[in-house]
Amino acid sequence: MKENGARPSEKWLRERISLRRFADRPLNREDVDWIVEGAMRAPTAGNMMLYSIILITDPAKKQVLSETCDHQPFIAKAPLVAVFLADYQRWFDYYRNSGVDAYCLERGLEFRGPDEADLLLACSDALIAAQNAVIAAESRGIGSCYIGDIMENYERHRELLDLPAWVFPLAMLCFGYYPEGERPAPRPRFDRKYIAFAEQYQRLSPEELDEMLAGRAAAFSPSNPYGVHNYGQWMYAQKTGAQFSAEMARSVRAALKNWRGEPILPKPFSKRLG
Ligand SMILES: Cc1cc2nc3c(=O)[nH]c(=O)nc-3n(C[C@H](O)[C@H](O)[C@H](O)COP(=O)(O)O)c2cc1C
Repeated sequence: MKENGARPSEKWLRERISLRRFADRPLNREDVDWIVEGAMRAPTAGNMMLYSIILITDPAKKQVLSETCDHQPFIAKAPLVAVFLADYQRWFDYYRNSGVDAYCLERGLEFRGPDEADLLLACSDALIAAQNAVIAAESRGIGSCYIGDIMENYERHRELLDLPAWVFPLAMLCFGYYPEGERPAPRPRFDRKYIAFAEQYQRLSPEELDEMLAGRAAAFSPSNPYGVHNYGQWMYAQKTGAQFSAEMARSVRAALKNWRGEPILPKPFSKRLG
């Protein structure tokens, strides 16, 4: 099953791009099912599946997300939007239903809520599932684009999607068929030597960093609205130091506060124990 020397699955990986302009037709039911099935075949820590997916086609909801996620109008035009949630709520609800509180009391153990490490594990599950969904979609001619800005505006997203405390919206994906015509070329990557190391980490020297970024920095123009003098300053102003990053930091802190602050036992349980 070779095609230009590459197996089709290699082609999906090599030719995938972030697609931001979709064919103007909805995804068919089988393709949506395939994307969800693809996501659900992903490995997860202890097979606990510490994630959930919310599939959104409601135009009003997509419109809200296009605004709350750093004002990106193409989100509203995506036929399908999927939010990938790191989800420990399901397991803790089950633990509570299973009398883990009573078990811990009997054994003199602390019944602890999910901590930061559990959140990171749930985030790993959610992101791996999301990327499986991307590849499943590619295999059927469906393009996608991640939206990291779903981590912003935590309070609004919590309300919009009805999220309990131990559910964190980690990633969002827009899906749609590739439009007819030419497909954008895959975007360049840094040279492999700066990314994949043998046996141990290699911190890059100033010269190596300049070399790694030479291609991208060549496109930098000193006449720009930010008053920056080089590509590094421009990237900082555009990304790490930008307003959306500040909002993301605020929002994630609020979500973490909520995650940590959730009482391990809801009121009725606490009463029964007391
Ligand atoms: C975690 C994450 C968040 C991203 N957020 C956005 C986003 O908010 N808007 C957007 O247009 N693209 C977003 N992207 C897509 C990247 O811009 C894209 O992957 C990158 O420029 C490389 O291009 P390629 O995917 O076509 O190879 C995101 C990608 C990732 C992995």
